[in-house]
Amino acid sequence: MKKTMQTATTAGQARDAFTSSFGVLAATLGSAVGLGNIWKFPYVTGANGGAGFLLVYLLATLLVGLPVMIAEIMLGRKAKADAVTTLRTLAPRGQHWWLIGASGVVAAFLIMSFYSEVAAWVFAYVFKAVRGDILSSDPAQTSAAFHALVGDPWQSLLWQWAVLLLIGGILLLGVAKGIEAVTKKLMPVLFILLLILGARSLMLPGAAQGLAFLFTPDFSKITGGVVLVAMGLAFFKLSIGMGTMMTYGSYFRDDQNVPATTLRVMAADLFVSMLAGIVVFPAVFTFGFKPEAGPSLLFITIPAVFASMPMGHLFMVLFFVLSAVAATGAMLSILEVPVSVMAGRFNISRTRATLINLLLLGLIGSTCALSNNALSGVTWHGMTFFDLFDFVSSSILMPVGGIFLCLFAAWIWGRDKMMAALTNEGTLGNAGVVTLVYWLLKLVTPVLILLVMLKGLGVLDYFTR
Ligand code: PFF
Repeated sequence: MKKTMQTATTAGQARDAFTSSFGVLAATLGSAVGLGNIWKFPYVTGANGGAGFLLVYLLATLLVGLPVMIAEIMLGRKAKADAVTTLRTLAPRGQHWWLIGASGVVAAFLIMSFYSEVAAWVFAYVFKAVRGDILSSDPAQTSAAFHALVGDPWQSLLWQWAVLLLIGGILLLGVAKGIEAVTKKLMPVLFILLLILGARSLMLPGAAQGLAFLFTPDFSKITGGVVLVAMGLAFFKLSIGMGTMMTYGSYFRDDQNVPATTLRVMAADLFVSMLAGIVVFPAVFTFGFKPEAGPSLLFITIPAVFASMPMGHLFMVLFFVLSAVAATGAMLSILEVPVSVMAGRFNISRTRATLINLLLLGLIGSTCALSNNALSGVTWHGMTFFDLFDFVSSSILMPVGGIFLCLFAAWIWGRDKMMAALTNEGTLGNAGVVTLVYWLLKLVTPVLILLVMLKGLGVLDYFTR
């Protein structure tokens, strides 16, 4: 059932917002599901020993991901404004909590710069897969095809700009007619493709071996480093710590059950990651490839795996369409952070804000498109622009943002306001859940996140040695 499309802002003006519960779910899940599930999750799980890692990741998602996501959506929905304005409105006078939102804008730019480049490869691969260009069961050949793409500055740039234009075009349509309408169509497509590909993979002779790799825990592989990698992945996966969920929360309706919706998004996101693992690992084992191939798993191993199976051409096309669909929903949410802040703070139209951000991203993002070719020699402590943007956003800005969000929600905003906001003024009967979330945010989650950040700084030490 459609409800009113507009909600009132604190300033009393009409505001574009999500229109239905399914729309809220599709858009929020669209943000969480992305290359993180299909690209990062399988290779990180593969590189860290499979099922043992999975268990730690699950704990990190429950203890860190879930509380921070609930806090962000709660604050955004309360203020009904962009990430910077939300924190300005809710914080006591004279305190600068809005800096979390500002850091989110920076993180969004950095993430979008490299993410749109990985998405650019995915979109290019859809076309290559259709034309049969990457249809070889020999990893040496699929590797050559991948390096021909990323090594060519013009191809890298043009695909990235095409991706940016697509995302900008959808955002120009608005929150309800753009983000919500598109993700509502894409999410079912994503699930159907995943189920088809999962069923195909399970029919392969190596299915049992692949599933055993994914589901039999080997606790000997769980080291301190693995725990921290799992927490970093939980951050990136759930799009938290940088104002994305706060921005989307501002488009939530007041009758939406925030903790329940968040739990549903988290569970569905986990389901997608598991399905992606079920697609990838049986196939990898069946055709004798290594599960720990690293980031190249998606672009070098996967094409070779598909080329080895009957009807592989068709399934390869479906796989890259699936990846492109997933990347699209995530990129909409990343770019929405600076677009909404610019429109909200500088009082300019959404169209203008989108165009300015596209232009800025075309410039800043091109450093990532050129990181594997023209600018590959430009490094800082061994990191190209691509690596540096990934490192600064995931290892510093998102965890720091996460810590301060916990502190703000639990210590500054406080238990009573949280209770009122998350129980929808006492109408939901979920006070027990809210109490649990409150104590996690107050004492447990920020401490755990601090560990992620220290791990990040450890990496920094390693690079500055
Ligand atoms: N959650 C997305 C993924 O897993 O691919 C990535 C992402 C989206 C990160 C939105 C940050 C963000 F704000």
